[in-house]
Amino acid sequence: MPTVFDLIVRNGTLVNHNGIGPADIGVTDGRIAALGDLSTHDAAETIDATGLTILPGVIDSQVHFREPGMEHKEDLASGARGAVLGGVTSVFEMPNTKPTTTDAGALADKIDRATGRMACDFAFWFGATAENVEDLAEAERLPGSAGIKMFMGSSTGDLLVDESEHVRRVLENGHRRVAVHSEEESRLKERAHLRVEGDPSSHPVWRDPTAAYLCTDRLIALAKAAGRRIHVLHISTADELPLLAAHKDLVTAEATPHHLTLSSDDYRTLGTLVQMNPPVRDRAHQSAIWDAIRDGTIDVLGSDHAPHTLEEKAVPYPGSPSGMTGVQTLVPIMLDHVNAGRLTLERLVDLTSHGPNRLFGIAGKGRIALGYDADFTIVDLKARRIIENGWIASKAAWTPYDGRAVTGWPKGTIIRGHRVMWEDEIIGAPQGAPVRFIEGCVDPVSG
Ligand code: DOR
Repeated sequence: MPTVFDLIVRNGTLVNHNGIGPADIGVTDGRIAALGDLSTHDAAETIDATGLTILPGVIDSQVHFREPGMEHKEDLASGARGAVLGGVTSVFEMPNTKPTTTDAGALADKIDRATGRMACDFAFWFGATAENVEDLAEAERLPGSAGIKMFMGSSTGDLLVDESEHVRRVLENGHRRVAVHSEEESRLKERAHLRVEGDPSSHPVWRDPTAAYLCTDRLIALAKAAGRRIHVLHISTADELPLLAAHKDLVTAEATPHHLTLSSDDYRTLGTLVQMNPPVRDRAHQSAIWDAIRDGTIDVLGSDHAPHTLEEKAVPYPGSPSGMTGVQTLVPIMLDHVNAGRLTLERLVDLTSHGPNRLFGIAGKGRIALGYDADFTIVDLKARRIIENGWIASKAAWTPYDGRAVTGWPKGTIIRGHRVMWEDEIIGAPQGAPVRFIEGCVDPVSG
């Protein structure tokens, strides 16, 4: 008897844990119900993926969507539109909003705001402060919580936990992996005079590799003493890589597309648009991060989508804010790197789906396997396109990659069996839902 599925994605090439090969996917109730040759089966909806490649839905575990408080730069709806146009199916959003996501009420408020307005699935990082340490073990288990985020170096906003005693207390309160922005605050303060008025190329001189190295070294020692798993965000230096590799039992690490693609040469042409914390550095650091992609020291990719308006970016350095858009360009930029032979498609999937599933204990996402959510990033590996500001859905409306030709483009975004983007068009009303976590609070309805 043929089965009737809600959706069959036919004739695509699947990239999953078995390798790369042809397979149809049958979806029932938003979950993957069958894999293989489904040519004798029917479905209410069929997607013909002939000539296309199907990746497990891409999970971007670091984005700043600015709501509440800075909606002129971005909001949860516009950020999520950028995500799905870029082939991203889930995002983990950062706590440096106004107010900060540092109490249960602020987290619940973000989930309320996201529901019915975000086109992709979502979780929210909970910010650690010196004042809320006692609440963190509970906070990391709240529905929709991605876990705890700690800024050890100050960046956009005023979240900061830099004293070792406070870091120790954060690490001792709770169990889930803590995500950390690692730049040594005292060194940033000491070196602030090295910023050259009007010259953003002095940004990596101020926030130098030693600032990142010293902080990551101190953080790892504290994490070892506490026996706590940590995740070091946006690795920007060659210096930190041996440290990370020596402590893989507790430490995981993220790389960003911009640290893999842009370099200090770009300050000349792009100016403050490349200004980011931690900074985009010279090619020696970039090449070391590529080596760490290949040797496994890096576990996941996050875009660190951090939009600011062009007007804000036009203020002369160092008055200009740090951050650039990225959620929508993650997939095309990385597919272009795949096509250029810098990483394999399997490794890309490991970094953007399997990696987040493994590190953050995501329930039912990150693999194309029976019972998992039917989240797919459908890509045309051969499409040759030009990334342009006009394509960017962010309220900031710009990308540092404007004018860049890439090979490889997201063709469609499927979330829990719903086609939410096809050929650069968003389809249907936003239906994003909270991501579920094995160590978090399990949703009593969907299990
Ligand atoms: O450059 C950055 N901008 N780095 C961060 O860590 C924060 C981000 C932002 O929120 O603007």
